[in-house]
Amino acid sequence: MLIQFDAKTRQFHLTNRAFSYILGIAENGVPVQVYCGAPLSAGRAYPLLDPIPFAGFSNNDKAIARFEYPAYGSGDFRQSAFSARFSDGGAVAEPRYQSHKICRGKPGIPGLPATYTENEGEAETLELELRDTPSGLTVILYYTMFAGANTLARRARFVNLGNGEVILESAMSLSLDLPDPRWNAVTLTGSWAREFQRDDVPLRPGFQGIASRRGVSGAQTNPALVLRRSGTTGYSGEALGVSLVYSGNFTIDVEVDQWDIARLRAGINPDTFSWSLEPGASFDTPEAILAWSDEGLNGLSSQFHRLYRSRLARGAWRDAGRPVLLNNWEGTYFHFTEPKILAMARAAKDLGIELFVLDDGWFGKRDDDRSSLGDWFPHRGKLPDGVAALARKITAMGLKFGLWIEPEMVSPDSELFRARPDWAVGVPGRERTEQRFQYVLDMGRREIVDHLFEVLSGIIGGADISYIKWDMNRFLTEPYSLSLPPERQGEFFHRYVLGVYDLYARLTRAFPDILFESCSSGGGRFDPGLLAFAPQGWLSDDTDALERLIIQEGASLIYPPSSMGCHVSAVPNHQTGRVAPLHFRAMTAFFGSLGYELDPATLTEAEWEAVKKQIAFYKTRRKTFQYGVFSRLVSPLDTDSRRAAWMVRSPDGDEAIVGVYKILSNPNQKPWRLPLAGLDSAAEYAVTVWEAGGYDETDAALNCGTRGGDELMRAGLLLECTLRNTPKPGDFFSELFLLDKIPLDEE
Ligand code: GLA
Repeated sequence: MLIQFDAKTRQFHLTNRAFSYILGIAENGVPVQVYCGAPLSAGRAYPLLDPIPFAGFSNNDKAIARFEYPAYGSGDFRQSAFSARFSDGGAVAEPRYQSHKICRGKPGIPGLPATYTENEGEAETLELELRDTPSGLTVILYYTMFAGANTLARRARFVNLGNGEVILESAMSLSLDLPDPRWNAVTLTGSWAREFQRDDVPLRPGFQGIASRRGVSGAQTNPALVLRRSGTTGYSGEALGVSLVYSGNFTIDVEVDQWDIARLRAGINPDTFSWSLEPGASFDTPEAILAWSDEGLNGLSSQFHRLYRSRLARGAWRDAGRPVLLNNWEGTYFHFTEPKILAMARAAKDLGIELFVLDDGWFGKRDDDRSSLGDWFPHRGKLPDGVAALARKITAMGLKFGLWIEPEMVSPDSELFRARPDWAVGVPGRERTEQRFQYVLDMGRREIVDHLFEVLSGIIGGADISYIKWDMNRFLTEPYSLSLPPERQGEFFHRYVLGVYDLYARLTRAFPDILFESCSSGGGRFDPGLLAFAPQGWLSDDTDALERLIIQEGASLIYPPSSMGCHVSAVPNHQTGRVAPLHFRAMTAFFGSLGYELDPATLTEAEWEAVKKQIAFYKTRRKTFQYGVFSRLVSPLDTDSRRAAWMVRSPDGDEAIVGVYKILSNPNQKPWRLPLAGLDSAAEYAVTVWEAGGYDETDAALNCGTRGGDELMRAGLLLECTLRNTPKPGDFFSELFLLDKIPLDEE
């Protein structure tokens, strides 16, 4: 049993025996937060943990400091979990306990992506019904506790059971009043080409957080916030994370009040949101996932990874080895012909690549980024025989074929825009802002989504296509929908997101065998919402290997390696101009879903052979790289970009791979002890280096051989003991150590 209700104390204890979450119903019927963290014994009530009286209220009826889903207007002056305006113009609400239900499994959310169960034993869900009696507004809070991960899914449904219209002005997915503020907030912020930069600052009194108003989750702020204790490290200490399964405007914030209570909230950004509920109508918030660990930040990440990899991602590709791909974008940009593409594909095949992806520029008359979005028919100047014929020629080589699309967009210079200028988002009578010479289609309109489904199904269904890269290369400006009356324009942004989800759902249902990869100028919409449809995403347009050590590490706080598209690209790198050696680029890209993004014709003979070996090697360890348990051992952010180390171990624990990155060379380097993690301390491992990738002979001599799991975790690898007078490899040197568990009967 994962959820228990104690009728005497009116407390609900949600626990998988490794994580506990307790809420109660106060005497006045208001749900209160009791506890969240390390497991407490099940089968007992915790009346003493009930919230302390809140000295700020004179009315004892509300003398509670830690609420479960705080309402606006009756004495709690902090940010509320929701606010609604009623037909009398008032906005005060006091939802109180009405009833509850506990059921096995997890119900879905209409129109929204969410985590799920495959059988009912995997989770239990509490539905807590609250009612604001004067208005008739009902709030149902959903809590799902998963058995197999320290994760709790939360969300809310609003139902207008009154007689008048209710305007929701804010509706959080989660609000959690933590009893103390002694946490650091870790967030992932950035911009184009430098997504997922980890920031880590102590909470302070007042309001702090991250938010998007761009219409998408954004490279600027990934929708996740992790709280860690100041002493929490990679492997030890407490951490609590929230991640929002949503792809639009959001807020995740923390307010520390005068009593040292830290209110954590996550949900749709109220600044750009309102929703009208006619009598009888309902509204569902997206879901927020709360994860907890006392095994440090790696422990927390592995809770998110497990859930997202196996119970958010779905479909044929969820558990399947992802193909090694060649994407032509950086190899050709817009300037390609069919013979060029076929030559690249032939080379790809020779290199061992499995999937060829044709990126932007194959449609309309698109020779640069100034035209043709929306015109999803082949560019006859480049593909005289069309997409289906190209796909046939490429699949005949023994490769799979994939295609880039950017469905949500329209170029002002396009047949679609000339025919349907009213389909582009904009406010009548005002100029539209162009970004990258393009406008956004109003995805909140059913007829537009229908049109896109029809046109895209035609292309995808009409050719032998195995993979789609769905891009989205600008933000939303001049938000306004012609399909909404003036008083409902506040619904625009959320309806846009619902339209995107609808199109994704219809296309993934119609083409269940296709691997979808999401993209938004790189990682501009790399979020759990899209992960539910596209099990992998293009993490960043920045493929510089050093930058990728930072970007992939940041993303790994929440997202599993299988979800990260990681490509080896040409040097000098197109984003930074840096020249990192090929082996270093590959060893970074290995820790995700591997691809190459270059013109193979530019490879030297030696590079060609090296790439062949990389691909052959990656295939032998693909399942571990993509689906293994990933750990950040050493961060470039903590070592002045001098060192980094990652580790991944296969789910069955039989093998592990350690990537060691000596980014900048040090003179007279001190020996580097690198303790490993997550091994079986009673087992022995055969330790080798991946020879084809290059290695330091002293490192190999000191570390290879039969080593105990305990030894590797406690004493670790011993690196950089090369004598002072031996030649040094210089900057950007990397090595892969392979650990294969020795079966007991061989010992
Ligand atoms: C975005 C993507 C790139 C590429 C281009 C094509 O920037 O992130 O990978 O697809 O668009 O225009």
